[in-house]
Amino acid sequence: MKKVFLFFITISIILVVSQCTYHNVEEYYANTLDTITNCGDTIDVSFSKDVFPLVADHCISCHNDITQYAGRNYDSYEGILEVVENGKLLKVINHEPGYVQMPKNADKLAQCYIDIIEAWIRQGSKDN
Ligand code: HEC
Repeated sequence: MKKVFLFFITISIILVVSQCTYHNVEEYYANTLDTITNCGDTIDVSFSKDVFPLVADHCISCHNDITQYAGRNYDSYEGILEVVENGKLLKVINHEPGYVQMPKNADKLAQCYIDIIEAWIRQGSKDN
């Protein structure tokens, strides 16, 4: 009897936990997160396949349509292009002195992710 009870408790906990994990921004963008495959390949960088998933994963939880921290929404190509054009994007992710460090309150992005963003900008920050 005790075992059956424990079994049901376990199942309930699993159900509750799995429900909760769907209520966040990452889940909303989950289809884009799975597409980060070319870490290290910076020859021909794509905005939609390489850059946007990174930003969705590490930045959009704060810089989105609703919260818009620092007045920014990185939910679109245009939103991201603004901080490319004002020169701040690379400075904040590289933790350059005199700039805020992004992602805020989290580890610096992996170097290969920074390389991808840098390469995309070098290649003309295209909407490709
Ligand atoms: C936990 C929330 C959070 C995350 C995640 C986050 N930011 Fe920010 N960001 C902020 C806040 C808040 C500010 C305003 C400055 C401050 O308070 O530090 C800011 C400021 C900035 C600024 C400078 C202001 C401006 O002109 O736009 C840039 C650029 C920026 N963030 C880019 C990014 C990028 C790129 C990422 C992902 C790699 C990112 N942020 C992730 C919260 C966040």
